[in-house]
Amino acid sequence: MSYVEKITKKNLLINGEWIEAKAYKPLYSPYSGEVLAEIPDATEQETALAIEAADRAKGVMAKLPAYKRAEILENLVQLLKERADEAAEIIALEASKPITAAKGEVARTIETYKFAAEEAKRIHGETLPLDAASGGVNRLAYTVREPLGVIGAITPFNFPMNLVAHKVGPAIASGNTIVLKPASQTPLSAFFIAELLQEAGLPTGALNVVTGSGRVVGEKIVNDDRVSMITFTGSPAVGIAIRNKAGLKRATLELGSNAAVIIDQGVDLDKIILRCVEGAFSFQGQVCISLQRVYIHESLYEEFIEKFVPAVQKLKSGDPLDPETNVSALITPGDVERSLKWIHEAASSGATIATGGKAEGNILLPTVLVDAAADMKVSCQEVFAPIVIVDKVTSVEEAIQKVNDSRYGLQAGIYTNDIHTALNAIDALHVGGVMVNDIPTFRVDNMPYGGVKESGNGREGIKYAVEEMTELKLVVWNRN
Ligand code: SIN
Repeated sequence: MSYVEKITKKNLLINGEWIEAKAYKPLYSPYSGEVLAEIPDATEQETALAIEAADRAKGVMAKLPAYKRAEILENLVQLLKERADEAAEIIALEASKPITAAKGEVARTIETYKFAAEEAKRIHGETLPLDAASGGVNRLAYTVREPLGVIGAITPFNFPMNLVAHKVGPAIASGNTIVLKPASQTPLSAFFIAELLQEAGLPTGALNVVTGSGRVVGEKIVNDDRVSMITFTGSPAVGIAIRNKAGLKRATLELGSNAAVIIDQGVDLDKIILRCVEGAFSFQGQVCISLQRVYIHESLYEEFIEKFVPAVQKLKSGDPLDPETNVSALITPGDVERSLKWIHEAASSGATIATGGKAEGNILLPTVLVDAAADMKVSCQEVFAPIVIVDKVTSVEEAIQKVNDSRYGLQAGIYTNDIHTALNAIDALHVGGVMVNDIPTFRVDNMPYGGVKESGNGREGIKYAVEEMTELKLVVWNRN
């Protein structure tokens, strides 16, 4: 019997104890519809208990030496390596992420916690030459970085283990405590990591896991004064609401995008077709940097379509546990419905469906649209589904203008053989990250990751998240 088959019910993790909740809800598989487990639907009072526990533990965590924090994270890395197959199965089942991609996510999660363990040992300030100011002579000045206290982490369904790692890892590394609210559809990955962290030696109360609705649990975490920072990954609408309510709390917001790639004339398409397929359709396009818009030079347009569409049609859809599966169910039936609506709206207003455009059960078949206008939802909103539009342009400048004509700005890619074109694009693209000779869907876990405009603010990537999760304190000694 696998780990997931053994789970029937999970409890809340509060102050180191697995507490029976007042109410539970069934967790369904997005692919098969079967019930995977009963999950707590926490109340505001239960969330308050978790915050109280994190608040009580913050003194202990702040005093824990760096080598101990690193050791706990190293222990977690080891435990996760030993249980990597179970971890991948959990992700595949609760998120309907194809198992090959789920295994990739577990490998990344291990690396993310490893980076966190390493980063724990190099959190430091700097000495300052105060005598550069006439009033600063004979003073010794330096900064130190202190933990903020309680971090409220609200995580999404699409990388249920690695995006938890991007919040929990740096929070522990920097001596904070955490109240974690995982996405309602993917709590099992978070509970699994919490169990491993307990085994790894994390102090009581340092991590509390509360599942339930955003309206109750999320609201309480955002509104409670004992929480010093919110780190959120999710939709722009929720992110903006959090920003508006957070007051003086810090808030790191990783929100959505309609990421684009530019393909310049002269690029060898045979080298990039499969990469574009991967960028648009990995995990059914439910990735914030999923390739949603391709702007290709007109001289390559026909060839791109001729090669890209058959490559997309080769993707195999089906059971997330089948190693052959590339594309499985979308996270909810509502997302299938919405996606079909957007495709049909586009098609009835002049776009052409080159492939896909229909669903089999909860699986939306990989869809390529051409001639989609900039104001169609499939172009200008975040689709978060296996849909990509391909548009021809007469120049890279025109493509840049189209990429920037967006509410979002997370990452963009440009393929070009011309270094000046690449350098100009880097200057002109209004995004958090530019990938030269790659799709926007590139991320490794130590790079700064975050966006501009409605894609959010702040940066993740362990070192950068540690900066967000610590307060700079200045110390000045008067030697006069
Ligand atoms: C995201 O969807 O924001 C995360 C993408 C990734 O970590 O690859």
